[in-house]
Amino acid sequence: MTSPIAFIDLQAQRRRIADKIETAIKRVLEHGAYVMGPEILEMEKQLAQWGGVRHALACASGTDALVLALMARGIGLGDAVMVPSFTFVATAEAVVLAGATPVFVDILPDTLCMDPQSLERAIKAAAQAGLKPKAVIPVDLFGQPADYPALTAVAGDLLMIADAAQSFGAKLNGKPVGSMAAMTTTSFFPAKPLGCYGDGGAVLTDDDELIDILRSIRSHGQGKDRYEHVRIGVNGRMDTMQAAIMLEKLAIFGEEIELRDAVARRYTEALADVVETPVVISGGTSVWAQYTFTVDDRDGVMKALQGLGVPTGVYYPTPIHMQPPYAHYPADPQGLTVTEAKRSRVLSLPMHPYLDAATQDRVIAAVRQVVGAK
Ligand SMILES: Cc1ncc(COP(=O)(O)O)c(C=O)c1O
Repeated sequence: MTSPIAFIDLQAQRRRIADKIETAIKRVLEHGAYVMGPEILEMEKQLAQWGGVRHALACASGTDALVLALMARGIGLGDAVMVPSFTFVATAEAVVLAGATPVFVDILPDTLCMDPQSLERAIKAAAQAGLKPKAVIPVDLFGQPADYPALTAVAGDLLMIADAAQSFGAKLNGKPVGSMAAMTTTSFFPAKPLGCYGDGGAVLTDDDELIDILRSIRSHGQGKDRYEHVRIGVNGRMDTMQAAIMLEKLAIFGEEIELRDAVARRYTEALADVVETPVVISGGTSVWAQYTFTVDDRDGVMKALQGLGVPTGVYYPTPIHMQPPYAHYPADPQGLTVTEAKRSRVLSLPMHPYLDAATQDRVIAAVRQVVGAK
């Protein structure tokens, strides 16, 4: 009997660093600073270095990171925030939670990240609808940076917040994700390329003033004294225990990025002649949060692969603008045609740094068998 194939094998990583993780957890249990303990500060320091900026703020989730970033700039009622629809719901949800209006933007057909021309149309449409265009949140889908230079050229003075929940550790033109927007948010949800053992997230910025505001909002709008509140905030802190776990994961993150890239390369070499393999932006790298290809009859392919014991995932079957709670928000007036076409064609394969060649070969053989037979 062949062993089952994991879509993401978190246990393989845990086995590798189990002793270190257990020691780190024990250390937190012993010092007892469960909230805002020393591991948080150390992790923030290391995250900022990874992101090539001066500051990182640990917070409770990638969703909170987005809400904190929007609140830090006072974005709210009457403001329009341009977001892709082809992303996890949190990108648009955070905008609504902040009190602002999401305006949906289409994606490029190759990288699946935000389309600068669609962004331009969406900004105009937002203004025509009587909203104040304030910010853009490009999403680094599946692990690669969006085209920040092109998007920034269109966005002009609008605030740029990079949703790097899937791309932390990637680069564009030699610059790390973290340094391409005024603020960058990320998620440490366990399945992310850099994940903890629960929920966690971060906001990165180079701006000294912003980081103070973000810190204050993270803790109920706290001022200089503990019970002085100078603005409306939230409880958006990350647990010390999660930071202790993250520090052990950060120690092997660089190596894991290389391992992920090797897995992706092998897939592309073996499958490029039978499916549309993923395209990484010119000058960019990906940390391969997902290895997602495009194929006709996606559902049929998915079912056949399942029959062969190969788990797959669909990100995202229903774009946000087609979900009932979000359907009434504005969008690029030319429509989100690429988003709507891709949603029924994308399919993600097992991807993690510890996917061994023999297992990957089983996945590849199954895809070739299924797609070749179509
Ligand atoms: C693109 C994107 N944005 C935001 C989030 C939200 O992160 P979290 O689950 O940590 O709240 C996620 C992942 O879950 C995501 O993939």
